[in-house]
Amino acid sequence: MAQRPLAVGLIGGGGGAFIAQPHQRAIHFDGTRRVVCAALHPDPVIAMKEAENWPYPIQGYRSYDEMIADQAKKPIGERIDYALIVTPNHVHFDPAMKCIQAGIPVFCEKPLTVTLDESDQLVKAVRTKKVPFGVAHTYLGHWTSRLSRHIVRSGLLGEVRWVDSYYIQGWLAVRAEDMGSMQAEWRVDPKRAGGSCCGGDIGTHALMQLRFVTGLEIKRLQAHMETFVKGRQLDDHFTTYCELSNGGKALVRASQIAIGHKNDLGIEINGTKGSLIWRQEEPESITILLPGQPDRVYWRGEVKANDGFLGDLPADLMAEPTIPSGHPEAFHDAFARLHRCFEADVRAYNAGKEWKDDGSKYANVEDGRTGIAFIATAIESSQQNGAWVAMK
Ligand SMILES: NC(=O)c1ccc[n+]([C@@H]2O[C@H](COP(=O)([O-])OP(=O)(O)OC[C@H]3O[C@@H](n4cnc5c(N)ncnc54)[C@H](O)[C@@H]3O)[C@@H](O)[C@H]2O)c1
Repeated sequence: MAQRPLAVGLIGGGGGAFIAQPHQRAIHFDGTRRVVCAALHPDPVIAMKEAENWPYPIQGYRSYDEMIADQAKKPIGERIDYALIVTPNHVHFDPAMKCIQAGIPVFCEKPLTVTLDESDQLVKAVRTKKVPFGVAHTYLGHWTSRLSRHIVRSGLLGEVRWVDSYYIQGWLAVRAEDMGSMQAEWRVDPKRAGGSCCGGDIGTHALMQLRFVTGLEIKRLQAHMETFVKGRQLDDHFTTYCELSNGGKALVRASQIAIGHKNDLGIEINGTKGSLIWRQEEPESITILLPGQPDRVYWRGEVKANDGFLGDLPADLMAEPTIPSGHPEAFHDAFARLHRCFEADVRAYNAGKEWKDDGSKYANVEDGRTGIAFIATAIESSQQNGAWVAMK
């Protein structure tokens, strides 16, 4: 018999919100998850009105406090199976903590929290209460990110010497915060974004791509957090030079003032035997460069084991649901893959079984905490004109 679809409750998503929409599409991708209720807005009247006007029926709540309290009263099977937090950064910690305390799994947007102390508290609560918790580092969900991870971690490029991991945008090259962009408005406000605009918003994605693919950690870093657009309190350009846990070096960088760049996230890894290049704006292939050989371009759906470079391929990678090559997968597919993997853990949790949120399928709470530690370390270094600072 078919399993009942998991029920998801949204926290945030009304009033022209951005990322709630790709998430809710990705939630419905497989038919095995559905959005059933939401606290869509901080204003209770708007929250209820937006819920009434939602494109399919959902139960509206006046606030996330009301939603969590109501759902927490119900047994598993009748309540939401997980909450999706898609609010600005300063409204992640409180609802996440309340859900965890109520035993409700959480899929939370990044950056995890505004302060490192809050992230530490979340890690402790998640591990003590043993509740599934995912962080929405979207790009880890591309099939090609998973293949890159396999290639680098299985040593096919040799020892990693150098990584350039970047996320370059141009939308904050002008004062979008004064032009009616609600997304810009809170991102440049330290009270709502945290100690960094550019670094927290997209530098953390570049960091997570490096960590996910290479398995390496940042040991220490030098940072320059710059503000090019006058009148802003936070960085709109973010550069870190990092020492990696294997002794290699990396640039982890981001910009929001690079006019013309849209969502130019990418990674280049140079190892002792070869290099790997991947860009999320063309996420269907990765390029491998080997000395004295023609470049190899691996397309999702056209990857075969034991082809002269690749050895055996992990069964779970090859079993990931995908569509035939040439029908492009992209952003929504990556999000759906994260929700699909999180769903498996939530189903195990509901059934009282073990699950393994080790960061191999989606970013876990410790990964989220590492993102915040990275920003806190970068702020300290940048305040000291780019001095080396050990990762917190
Ligand atoms: N993973 C990604 O690729 C990605 C992309 C964009 C944004 N994000 C993250 O997602 C989060 C939201 O970003 P966005 O650009 O969608 O913001 P947004 O401003 O478009 O939307 C924020 C939403 O939160 C709601 N909200 C605010 N306070 C609330 C409260 N107290 N209760 C209920 N709802 C409340 C707003 O009404 C709105 O619906 C941020 O943390 C951001 O960093 C992640």
